[in-house]
Amino acid sequence: MPFEKTLLITGGAGFIGSHLVRLLIDKYPNYHIVNLDKLTYAGNLENLRDIENRPNYTFVKGDITDAEQIQGLFGQYGFDGVIHLAAESHVDRSIANPMSFIETNIVGTVVLLNAARFHWKQAEGKLFYHISTDEVYGSLGDTGFFTEKTAYDPRSPYSASKASSDHLVRAYYHTYGLPVVVSNCSNNYGPYQFPEKLLPLMINNIRDNKPLPVYGDGLYTRDWLWVEDHAAAIDLIFHKGRVGETYNIGGNNEWKNISLVHALCDIMDELLERPAGSSRQLITFVKDRPGHDRRYAIDASKLKHELGWEPSVQAAEGLRRTAQWYLDNTAWLERVTSGAYQQYYAEMYGEAPGR
Ligand code: NAD
Ligand code: TYD
Repeated sequence: MPFEKTLLITGGAGFIGSHLVRLLIDKYPNYHIVNLDKLTYAGNLENLRDIENRPNYTFVKGDITDAEQIQGLFGQYGFDGVIHLAAESHVDRSIANPMSFIETNIVGTVVLLNAARFHWKQAEGKLFYHISTDEVYGSLGDTGFFTEKTAYDPRSPYSASKASSDHLVRAYYHTYGLPVVVSNCSNNYGPYQFPEKLLPLMINNIRDNKPLPVYGDGLYTRDWLWVEDHAAAIDLIFHKGRVGETYNIGGNNEWKNISLVHALCDIMDELLERPAGSSRQLITFVKDRPGHDRRYAIDASKLKHELGWEPSVQAAEGLRRTAQWYLDNTAWLERVTSGAYQQYYAEMYGEAPGR
């Protein structure tokens, strides 16, 4: 039986992409899901082992900056929709090496937009969905929230590259009539996150009794969203969102970094059956990240009122599930952190990473 739709998911072997691909494969057996991923250090096919043999799934190794390959894929599959997640995603790496962020996040996005524009002469029923971050809005003081109307004020090479790609996606809507939608989400957490990011890095270091590097005074605030809640929001926006619109996605779950690390330490003490308070002893305040944004907080009321989406997993449960997943998946961890990550960690933190 022919598929009802064929969707291109870029970056599907990464953290959020793998959760989204799994959701789509399970929920829409009548959709053909084509996952295009370059498999950088952050992309890992093991994230999708459980669904890789499904009849409605195809993996393509490729690079979104390769215009010939992307045009060829559009010609071959005649995509009905694109959900674009592929990106360089880590702020600290963008500070060390901005150029790969410009290439993938900006140039790669334009390559995809051009292919969609070229192949979707009849744009009716098509959709180019661009996945972005709340970091494009810059940094908040102690109060207030980012809304969809907040002016862009990106401050890291990562957020500047994402802001640029968001603008280009909207420009293709206004200039060429390409049907697009954009969402800007807060910090995600959960299984399969590459361990350079705050929570998995801390979990691994606690397990290995290594120092827990908290940047600056630790009073930076982030809003945290369970990754499967993000995937559910993407599914909803893709199917029900209004073309040309932007939707903010957030967890309504703000934490100062130090409070989050404390909460995680306490959960880890329990899971590892260590004396209460022992993991907190590992906390070490280290040199701050340059240009570190003080606070992010999302107003997701548009998504709630228009489409009825709300986060479903509370922080206490999500943190515990995340910690348990990393403790249960040391083989995954060893594989993704072998090789170049060792050098990255040594350069960032001055010693070898947790296992
Ligand atoms: P990730 O780093 O875990 O995964 C990125 C994926 O993109 C990897 O599989 C990688 O191999 C692939 N990729 C990188 N360059 C590529 C290229 N040139 N061609 C093809 N594939 C390439 O990132 P993530 O955390 O899953 O984030 C996914 C998207 O969501 C990104 O666009 C990011 O900006 C956005 N986002 C992330 C968060 C978060 O908290 N992680 C929050 C909001 C938005
Ligand atoms: P991160 O997971 O890198 O996400 P983002 O920078 O996109 O928000 O970092 C989350 C917060 O944790 C951020 O304020 C930086 C801080 N942080 C540390 O204090 N120590 C660390 O080792 C890392 C990786 C992050």
